[in-house]
Amino acid sequence: MSTVHDRTEPEVPECAFPPDFLWGVSTAAFQVEGSVTADGRGPSIWDAFCARPGAVVNGDTGEPAADHYRRMPSDVALMRELGVGAYRFSLAWPRVRPDGGAVNPAGLDFYERLVDRLLEAGITPWPTLYHWDLPQALEERGGWAARATAHRFADYVGAVVDRLGDRVGTWTTLNEPWCSAFLGYASGRHAPGRTEPRAAVAAVHHLLLAHGLGTAVIRDAVPTARAGVTFNLFPVTAADPADEADRETARRVDGLQNRLFLDPVLRGRYPDDVLTDLAPYGLGEMIRDGDLDHIGAPLDLLGVNYYRDLHVSSVPDADSGPPSEWVGAEHAGFPKRGLPQTDMGWDVNAGELTGLLLRLHTEYPRLPLYVTENGAAFADHVDGDGVVRDTERIAFIEAHLRAAHAAVARGVDLRGYFYWSLLDNFEWAEGYAKRFGLVHVDYPTQRRTPKASASWYARVMADNGLAGRR
Ligand code: FCB
Repeated sequence: MSTVHDRTEPEVPECAFPPDFLWGVSTAAFQVEGSVTADGRGPSIWDAFCARPGAVVNGDTGEPAADHYRRMPSDVALMRELGVGAYRFSLAWPRVRPDGGAVNPAGLDFYERLVDRLLEAGITPWPTLYHWDLPQALEERGGWAARATAHRFADYVGAVVDRLGDRVGTWTTLNEPWCSAFLGYASGRHAPGRTEPRAAVAAVHHLLLAHGLGTAVIRDAVPTARAGVTFNLFPVTAADPADEADRETARRVDGLQNRLFLDPVLRGRYPDDVLTDLAPYGLGEMIRDGDLDHIGAPLDLLGVNYYRDLHVSSVPDADSGPPSEWVGAEHAGFPKRGLPQTDMGWDVNAGELTGLLLRLHTEYPRLPLYVTENGAAFADHVDGDGVVRDTERIAFIEAHLRAAHAAVARGVDLRGYFYWSLLDNFEWAEGYAKRFGLVHVDYPTQRRTPKASASWYARVMADNGLAGRR
């Protein structure tokens, strides 16, 4: 593979993306901001979860994160130097409505400053309204298992678009509601750490309702705005395609991971088979008249987060036991295939991204797609000469861009790619141990060191693809 800024190779134009392709980087509020009590921010479910012994590796918390709340101006300057086209960040609901109720103007001030800085730097702001940090006060009133939380989300969205609607062109309602619902309320591996499968299924419906109600608020406030949602979607294959039980497990897992979210939002209905699989957990009972009209209201784009695929068997893994996030597919196993893995233990299987994008293009047509997250954690370190040589990350991004480009070449309307993440940050239950950034963060000093991948990606953005690389 080529090394960073290796100009010795012939410039072979290859993997050129469409001219207006959007190149970006992603972060999320709780993972980068720190300053968890600044300017009236209230506690979120993640603050409460981090305080639980054993919940997060090493007892890590939302402090200091990457201290982005205070270092935002220099982080925006860094993005500008890299030539980033769009910055996907999230707003912290507990900064804006600290206890889910009254608005805290100081919390909105931060995001207004951020958006203004980005615009001055020529970077498109790409805000996500919910990236997992529910105000703890709302969790105490039932959290996402309570229908009222969807209405509180709409109130919160109202406050945000009132302030920023004149400057933001594209809004994303939710990031990965699968994680909020199933990791949060079924396996309890994420905040709020509940292990109640029925609550997880209720959370799915209420998150989707929140998406629908929030989208309506955006449309009412700013009719010209574009609205979308981001899902973590996984290609699913049966370990033995000839085995009926494996195929049935794969159908269930695909239903729970992908179609449970895609179909209501993009087709206005839950898939029949998933309704059946989740009937014991009360999905049907959650749905009220009119809900699916809100949930299925037309969208302008879909965000796709792709990290890996799922290879599924009907035989549970030897080391797996309850509690599980696989509500409705409790017996699913995920056999190892000997593929290369990232530091998260996630298989690297870039080629599957092509098929995922083609599937979305075919099954949910006429919807612009954006890869809103793709990235990898590796055990990066700053060498004695000050360089972070993250060649594995470069190879990872390159392989995924080739896979994305293969989909574009076959007619998929893919309009952008965001690398996760700009900065090393708080990786949820894994704490600070997992480094996904293009930019290394030394947490005690908060020193930023752009990794080799940062200059490599800067060149890709400038070249609008892999032109000049083999
Ligand atoms: C995704 C999350 C994001 C980050 C990456 C590694 O599921 O959306 O916040 O943690 O995984």
